[in-house]
Amino acid sequence: MQVIQSIKELEKFRSSFGKHEQLGLVPTMGALHAGHISLVEKARQNTDQAMVSIFVNPLQFNDSKDFDKYPKQTEQDLKLLEKAGCDIVFVPDAKEVYKEQPLVSFQFGYLEHLMEGYYRPGHFNGVAIVVSKLLNIIKPHKAYFGEKDLQQLRVIQYLVRDLSMDVEIIPVPTVRESDGLAMSSRNMRLTADQRQRAVVLHQSLMKAKALLGKMPHAGIEQLIKKDLSSEKLEYFSIVQKMSLEKCSNPLQDKEVALCIAAFIDEIRLIDNIIVSS
Ligand code: PAJ
Repeated sequence: MQVIQSIKELEKFRSSFGKHEQLGLVPTMGALHAGHISLVEKARQNTDQAMVSIFVNPLQFNDSKDFDKYPKQTEQDLKLLEKAGCDIVFVPDAKEVYKEQPLVSFQFGYLEHLMEGYYRPGHFNGVAIVVSKLLNIIKPHKAYFGEKDLQQLRVIQYLVRDLSMDVEIIPVPTVRESDGLAMSSRNMRLTADQRQRAVVLHQSLMKAKALLGKMPHAGIEQLIKKDLSSEKLEYFSIVQKMSLEKCSNPLQDKEVALCIAAFIDEIRLIDNIIVSS
């Protein structure tokens, strides 16, 4: 497995890359777990070489404490990637990625006003800047993103569509722990007690799923909000799977996404499930 740290080295690698070969990119912020590895496996299955980038992007953290506390364990990540059969890892430092503070910024229209867009102002701008940079520098044929971060996945799909970027975005389903908790780098920060409480996010999604079609969406949302009153819930929303806009008419929306964000004490977790009727 080749480890590349500078953009210069990366450009050298890219220019020597076979013309008829396909390169797959998995952008990450490290602290890797089985969810990330499932993206790497998918990239290995349908491209010739799989590259993972590891970069904790300061620009996408609207809370500086969250950035400081973000787990960093590059040595362990590299071992995991080697075992997973990853071909190349790009691990730039912040000076390499942000030689200059970007002047450009992104706005994602109505997506800025709902769920993650609403609760984390500026977050998607930071994500879009770093993902644009990675796509432009690495020029992968395919890039892999988890459905775990469903709104981020949509933002990237719109980014690539609206700027006519020459890359295929491949969504990958959420990988979960045995009790249903969605895998996340932030789970590493949970104490044993918090870890037990964290399963409430998944339980709420399953409860809501069971109620779909039996009562109006607004009623389900109210019930889940009441259930979760002991944790700090930011949102629980039943939305259209693609647009992520609220859907009030279940008959019209064959595929909905149930999305949730809540704090377990100071640790913010998100999850969602997609339900087809
Ligand atoms: P990070 O949180 O490290 O996630 C990297 C990728 O792994 C994302 O596409 C995310 O959706 C996916 N992922 C995380 N947990 C997953 C799980 N349990 N199952 C399946 N996929 C999962 O998302 C980011 O980093 C950053 O915002 C990034 C896109 C790298 C830009 O900085």
